[in-house]
Amino acid sequence: MSHNLLKGKRGIIFGALDERSIAWKVAQVAHAEGASFTLTNAPIALRMGTINKLAEECEAEVIPADATSIEDLENLFTKSMEVLGGKIDFVLHSIGMSPNVRKGRDYGDLNYDWLMKTLDVSAISFHKVMQTAEKLDAMNEWGSIMGLSYIAAQRSFPDYSDMAQAKAMLESIARSYGERFGRMKNVRVNTISQSPTMTTAGTGVGGFDVFFDYADKMSPLGNASAEDCANYCVMFFSDFTRMVTMQNLMHDGGFSSSGITDRLIEDLTK
Ligand SMILES: NC(=O)c1ccc[n+]([C@@H]2O[C@H](COP(=O)([O-])OP(=O)(O)OC[C@H]3O[C@@H](n4cnc5c(N)ncnc54)[C@H](O)[C@@H]3O)[C@@H](O)[C@H]2O)c1
Repeated sequence: MSHNLLKGKRGIIFGALDERSIAWKVAQVAHAEGASFTLTNAPIALRMGTINKLAEECEAEVIPADATSIEDLENLFTKSMEVLGGKIDFVLHSIGMSPNVRKGRDYGDLNYDWLMKTLDVSAISFHKVMQTAEKLDAMNEWGSIMGLSYIAAQRSFPDYSDMAQAKAMLESIARSYGERFGRMKNVRVNTISQSPTMTTAGTGVGGFDVFFDYADKMSPLGNASAEDCANYCVMFFSDFTRMVTMQNLMHDGGFSSSGITDRLIEDLTK
């Protein structure tokens, strides 16, 4: 059911790889809520994924951009403003990748070049996106910028490896750039800390099935789905959240506030 929450708003959505991607669901909800937007992903992901199907469904143009390349980001913002007919109201940064996780490197044996790549792709790209938007004066007043995070930024989750550092940096960038963008243009910047979700990035983490199940049992409401996350993101692109900024917003069914739950006790006493 649509509420026209994003009627007349223009956006850029990063990170829709396939139907399981959180960004994919955000695009579908944003479209249903009346937004127009461009879709973007790294050129290699565009070749491997199925984004054209989503683009057709959402009547959106696809503009390739490696989120670590300033040149690509400049082209993306410039073209998006052309295609959409004006400045941008919302941006979703839904990007994460760690070569150390991907290649199964132990945390005590990190490849530091890969660590730099993890940080660049998964965190510094968030700064690059905002700095590019600022320099091109591409954001509308009262716009909203959202990044996706995970609770490993605050707690240890062994298999999450160097992605934990990337998420801590991502959340820190949201605060620092949120202060700047708020003061300059009333643009809000937040991150959503999402439950484990069955996507390509999610399931690439070792032992994912086990900690998906653990998180589900540790959350009074259960794990938040990608669809729920999309609804939450879209609310943050709407005018109903204009005064929320520089926050890391827990979207986890209560996981982050739970000590232990009946469901977990039941499991452990079996
Ligand atoms: N799945 C989970 O369990 C979970 C939980 C919390 C947070 N998150 C976060 O949600 C976000 C989206 O991930 P997802 O779970 O939908 O998985 P996903 O694999 O569908 O999305 C990750 C996206 O990052 C893109 N990407 C990688 N390198 C890029 C680059 N250089 N430039 C541009 N894009 C690039 C990929 O192409 C892909 O589309 C990530 O930030 C992830 O860390 C995921």
